[in-house]
Amino acid sequence: MTLTIVGSQLGDEGKGALVDRWGGDADVVVRYQGGDNAGHTVVEGGAEYKLSLVPSGAVRGTVGILGNGCVVNPRTLFTEIDDLRERGLDPDVRVARRAHVIMPYHRVLDGIEEEVKADDDAGDEVGTTGRGIGPTYEDKAGRRGVRVADLLAPDVLREKLEYAVPQKRALVEDVYGLDLTDDDRAEAFDVDALHEEFTRIGERLADEEMTVNCSDYLYRRREAGDRILFEGAQGTHIDIDHGNYPFVTSSNPTAGGAVVGSGVGVTTVGDGEVVGIVKAYLSRVGSGPLPTELDGDAEEEALADEIREKGGEFGTVTGRPRRIGWLDLPMLRHAARVSGFTGVAVNHVDVLAGLDELKVCTGYELDGEEIDTVPTTTERWERCEPVFETLDTWDEFDSAAVAEDGYDALPEAARGYLEFVADEIDTPVYAVGVGPDREETVELTNPFDE
Ligand code: GDP
Ligand code: IMO
Ligand code: MG
Repeated sequence: MTLTIVGSQLGDEGKGALVDRWGGDADVVVRYQGGDNAGHTVVEGGAEYKLSLVPSGAVRGTVGILGNGCVVNPRTLFTEIDDLRERGLDPDVRVARRAHVIMPYHRVLDGIEEEVKADDDAGDEVGTTGRGIGPTYEDKAGRRGVRVADLLAPDVLREKLEYAVPQKRALVEDVYGLDLTDDDRAEAFDVDALHEEFTRIGERLADEEMTVNCSDYLYRRREAGDRILFEGAQGTHIDIDHGNYPFVTSSNPTAGGAVVGSGVGVTTVGDGEVVGIVKAYLSRVGSGPLPTELDGDAEEEALADEIREKGGEFGTVTGRPRRIGWLDLPMLRHAARVSGFTGVAVNHVDVLAGLDELKVCTGYELDGEEIDTVPTTTERWERCEPVFETLDTWDEFDSAAVAEDGYDALPEAARGYLEFVADEIDTPVYAVGVGPDREETVELTNPFDE
């Protein structure tokens, strides 16, 4: 039995909280794409953990795998593992030997490309997390990437670096016109220094028996009857194929990514549950359209500030304030279809409590026509005018008491909101988030219950 957790919107929907919630019923938690651009929060009994690479089952002590679809920065992985150990956890993380490695030059290139895009005033910088994600996936597709397995073979690693690094240096110097002399970014392009550091990293990975053949490992675990939870990072609308290109990340957070990014068969993932994580409003960190954004006038901006403060909407990875908008059903319809959701978990229902007004976007108006899905281009999506339905608001409630008493203890208007959303996207609500803590979730269905 598998459970795949997918972000339905633009990332930061509270995936970590649900992976932690249901991770206790899983035997293995697998990240299948992305890297340390992710920031997943788990709150257990008031203790908060922010995880970028270590899969969110770690707080429960569940084995975590970084699948072949991930891009792994070993420096941040080890720092995160060491920090968690200092806090008393003992994360057991295995890394696919087919996963690609984020090298220091990828991070430098991510920064340079964003700077260049920002400088040309065309407004086409993506607002990336600066973690080197795009450049690493580029090298993967360009067949010049360094894989985790290469760190275990110093001769192979040297050969790869000797091929790739001069190209990267030329890109920086000849294409971007930067002079790396006396620049502390130069060491990211020093083959010998890179070879030494990453050979040592390979030794640590080998000593701690951290590398696996992901597909084979997961096959054996499933044969033994183990339950697998796939932890998507990012969200549907920043998926490189199904999202708001080019304001996307460079991988596939949607459910198909779980198959390709782990080496488990499509029928296995398809036989299991696929749960879309929904934030009850929208947040976006980074550039790109957001038709329902609350930024029209001072009143809307004040409302956005209120939601931002109450929901703690500041980037987990970069600390940037997140942009805020009303829930957008065309976006959710697209997400439900692309991943084939069997259920959704709707988080942050507590954050909407006590508002003076509550709106949901049910469709868009574009060129005089009403449409109910997201257009395929950024240019068209940008021109969409949201069509809103105003719903009843609800008062503040005691999250702990509601979580304990169950769904019927939610305010009637909140239940009305959830039922409206479920109906519009034709997908049942499995869980409702009423606070960040593991216990602050109202569970209607545990997807692992068969
Ligand atoms: P992820 O990237 O999808 O795992 O989400 P993030 O961790 O980046 O952002 C979600 C934030 O909301 C975190 O601070 C969570 O602790 C918090 N959170 C999750 N669910 C809820 C909820 O139902 N209510 C509130 N108030 N906060 C929540
Ligand atoms: P989690 O897993 C929200 C956004 C960045 C930028 C775009 C591309 O915590 O939900 P990248 O560094 O991936 O090349 O940036 O994607 N982004 C996220 N936004 N949550 C995330 O992850 C994100 N990961 C990347 O802000 O707009
Ligand atoms: Mg996040």
